[in-house]
Amino acid sequence: MKRMRPLAYRTALVTGASSGLGRGIAEAVASRGAHVVVAARRRSALDEVVAAIRRRGGSAEALVVDCSDADATHAAVAALDRKKPLDLVVANAGLGGTTPAADLQWATVRDILQLNVLGTAATLSGAVPGMVTRRRGHLVGVASLAGVRGLPGSAAYSSSKAAIRTFLDSLRIDLRPFGITVTTVSPGYVRTAMTEHHVGPMPFLMDLEPAVARILESLDSQDETCDFPRPAAIASRASSFLPAPVFEWLSRRAKLPT
Ligand SMILES: NC(=O)c1ccc[n+]([C@@H]2O[C@H](COP(=O)([O-])OP(=O)(O)OC[C@H]3O[C@@H](n4cnc5c(N)ncnc54)[C@H](OP(=O)(O)O)[C@@H]3O)[C@@H](O)[C@H]2O)c1
Repeated sequence: MKRMRPLAYRTALVTGASSGLGRGIAEAVASRGAHVVVAARRRSALDEVVAAIRRRGGSAEALVVDCSDADATHAAVAALDRKKPLDLVVANAGLGGTTPAADLQWATVRDILQLNVLGTAATLSGAVPGMVTRRRGHLVGVASLAGVRGLPGSAAYSSSKAAIRTFLDSLRIDLRPFGITVTTVSPGYVRTAMTEHHVGPMPFLMDLEPAVARILESLDSQDETCDFPRPAAIASRASSFLPAPVFEWLSRRAKLPT
């Protein structure tokens, strides 16, 4: 049975909170009474999010950080946690993009892996020691259904999200005895800046608002995983059981962008 309890966070950190899913999550968590630290690179966009939260009576502050600098991110999160003990950390900052293998661009592969893998790991790792000492906390990583199997044209993105999923799987096992919840969020396609210029089909594309509501529901329930929308989640789960040659054949037939 699911443990249902209302969100009772005092201080939360959300990375990639200057737009899209991160902004939506930050605003929703703030509306429930938490002080939210919104982190990303663009100061002006973060200031706008902070102002929007404050206009609605919430409490927030901006933290300018480039999460692709993993050491700086780790240091910034650890310093923040010492100053303001964090009980929710949402590592959401991420970079999309295709990397068709016949024309593989190392700079793109590097940038995606650096932010999505190292940036996410650094964000979560910066918060772990404090949470372990306090024996409470909630760690959330935003992966993707694209991380269930290696999708065509997505070697960097798919593998980065697979890494996040397994990183969180391991944290969950290690940290449960310390009262720390770990939630892996794996969305399908959501209408944000990231998907604005996406080339190719986007099955089951979801609007931002219901996507954020779905994530908040999972945080409330302290779910281990939050895979949505449902039809896309079922399709990805089914794909994980397919033998590699069958998955490859289907991927070619689906004419996914490469
Ligand atoms: N939209 C989808 O269909 C979808 C599906 C599955 C998973 N996701 C995942 O959801 C997360 C949020 O994506 P989104 O769709 O909301 O996209 P988005 O609107 O483009 O937001 C990306 C956020 O990440 C921040 N960011 C980018 N590079 C950064 C860096 N180096 N350091 C710190 N922050 C950085 C951006 O802010 P700044 O530019 O200000 O730094 C922005 O706030 C990502 O991890 C993405 O992979 C999205």
